[in-house]
Amino acid sequence: MAKGKVDALLGIVFGDEGKGKVVDCFTPKYDIVARFAGGPNAGHTIIFEGKKFVLRSIPSGIFDEGKLNIIGNGCVIAPDLFMAEAKELEAAGYNLKTRLHISKRAHLILPTHRVLDRAYEVAKGKNKVGTTGKGIGPTYSEKAARTSLRVGDILENFPEKYAALKNRHEQMLKDLHYTDYDIREEERLWLEGVEYMKSFPLTDTEIELHKALKAGKSVLAEGAQGTMLDIDHGTYPFVSSSSTCSGGVCTGLGVAPNAIGEIFGIFKAYSTRVGSGPFPVELFDETGDKIREIGNEYGAVTGRNRRCGWVDLVALKYAIALNGVTQLIMMKSDVLDTFDTIKACVAYKKDGVITEDMPYDTEGYEAVYEELPGWKSDLTHLTSESQFPKAFQDYIDYLEKALETPITIVSVGPDRAQTIERA
Ligand code: GDP
Ligand code: IMO
Ligand code: MG
Repeated sequence: MAKGKVDALLGIVFGDEGKGKVVDCFTPKYDIVARFAGGPNAGHTIIFEGKKFVLRSIPSGIFDEGKLNIIGNGCVIAPDLFMAEAKELEAAGYNLKTRLHISKRAHLILPTHRVLDRAYEVAKGKNKVGTTGKGIGPTYSEKAARTSLRVGDILENFPEKYAALKNRHEQMLKDLHYTDYDIREEERLWLEGVEYMKSFPLTDTEIELHKALKAGKSVLAEGAQGTMLDIDHGTYPFVSSSSTCSGGVCTGLGVAPNAIGEIFGIFKAYSTRVGSGPFPVELFDETGDKIREIGNEYGAVTGRNRRCGWVDLVALKYAIALNGVTQLIMMKSDVLDTFDTIKACVAYKKDGVITEDMPYDTEGYEAVYEELPGWKSDLTHLTSESQFPKAFQDYIDYLEKALETPITIVSVGPDRAQTIERA
């Protein structure tokens, strides 16, 4: 953490790496925590003092009273879901209104965007993306088409603007022959959410950030999703619709590239993916089932089974280069505690050709593995690196060498306290 800089914490694979947990751990070191991309497609889990929260749109720095949290311009926000999330936190005793600012430039997810999300998925048939159904794709599409509504729009002539956009969506849905929907109750809550949002500071968050940085404050940008779900660099078209990489921090918060400091790349000691799309390391056998079972790999947003496999060095190297990762954070190490051997995917193979570079399309590729011994002991109670079993230390050394990047934090359990900083 450096004064006057924005550090970024980015998921560097397919999301759900444990970003929420680490942002929460890091928050005491920073003045501001800001989300720069995504919306309620994210599900960031935080566990401390016997309490568990799953955050969607609200940054994971929200539990630290003295810190400002920002939902940046690069985000999309659904007022009804935001209201539900915020009220749950308020009921748990966190006074959000003093510590959460929302960018007027963030885009609004309408109920009809969610219907369009479903309609597009149905139209795609077997090529469906497996979205979270939160209206992400339709909202970002309209942002790019310059037809969308922003948070700032709720402050003036909103009923007219809303009705016009909703009518357009209804026409689009008719064109898609998707008419079997009823949003009346959803819409009621959504409009209530719009009013509720007005009780928060809706601000020019980029200007607030410029002033804060000039005054020497430190900012932590909290990623959502992961590099392989990035609209440009992920496994297109099986991706989300935002810029999840480090470049997205600049556009999604309105901060300059030279304001960026450290870039933390967070990954699991193995791999997961939720939704459709190619996944060369996917295990369809009992090992995959065992990882899912022990790692509790079921989606925080949709409850879907996460697809599981061994760690993927091809994807990690690609992500480290794309993002300029300066430090790695390895999560869920404890999930591998009982395995006799651990594998790492070092290359992809297709039609006899082996590559260590991320292909244009990973469909049809299979993983080439190296095998390492498992540590076969419980990591969850460890508190310092000196207690690491040798085989676990060897796994870390192996990954650091292959990835040419230091692993500075290792997580050995879901609780805030189960986080080990390495010297
Ligand atoms: P995010 O989207 O990147 O914030 O990650 P999610 O919250 O969707 O998924 C991470 C899951 O792993 C959550 O259920 C966390 O409670 C859990 N978790 C985080 N770190 C660890 C860890 O080191 N060990 C174990 N066993 N679980 C962890
Ligand atoms: P966090 O921030 C994992 C996946 C969906 C789908 C694809 C597109 O919790 O890591 P979308 O609804 O965004 O249009 O879905 O992206 N996806 C995620 N997978 N973690 C996430 O967020 C995700 N957000 C979206 O499953 O495959
Ligand atoms: Mg998640």
